[in-house]
Amino acid sequence: MIKPDAVGRRLCGEIIRRYEAKGLKLVGMKLQIVSRELAEKHYAEHAGKKFYDGLMAFIMSGPSIQMVWEGENAVAVVRKLNGATNSQEADLGTIRGDYGLTVQNNLVHASDSGETAAREIAIYFAPGELWDYSMPDGHWLVN
Ligand code: RTP
Ligand code: MG
Repeated sequence: MIKPDAVGRRLCGEIIRRYEAKGLKLVGMKLQIVSRELAEKHYAEHAGKKFYDGLMAFIMSGPSIQMVWEGENAVAVVRKLNGATNSQEADLGTIRGDYGLTVQNNLVHASDSGETAAREIAIYFAPGELWDYSMPDGHWLVN
């Protein structure tokens, strides 16, 4: 997910560029202001934590982009591209390390396991909104 801070800062293209350049394949995408109902489902694991209310307000504060990316080891690869949760500790060269300054407004979200990915994809996408296709300019690639 490209979070509202990154959309507001016009960083969508830069973030998508990095996932594409790495070789990942985009199979689902939408722009929306996340409803409270969806945000509660998404961040259920953080309910009750001290940063939960701020996180909920932040994630609903403007449009965000939900995406599904495929590729070998996509979960680990995307988290590596994103960098550490706290943008100040994230390595330079990562999205958060290059563009973020705080823990909360850290530009991107990524699923932390295959199971989490399946759960989160189901929150934001209907099965018919995910696309199975071969890459027009890279059809020799496997995946
Ligand atoms: P994400 O879920 O967004 O990919 O990030 P993550 O796994 O690296 O971080 P997680 O622990 O799941 O936290 C979810 C999001 O909550 C905000 N947060 N704020 N103020 C705080 O101490 C704090 N801790 C986390 C961040 O926006 C984080 O990405
Ligand atoms: Mg997380």
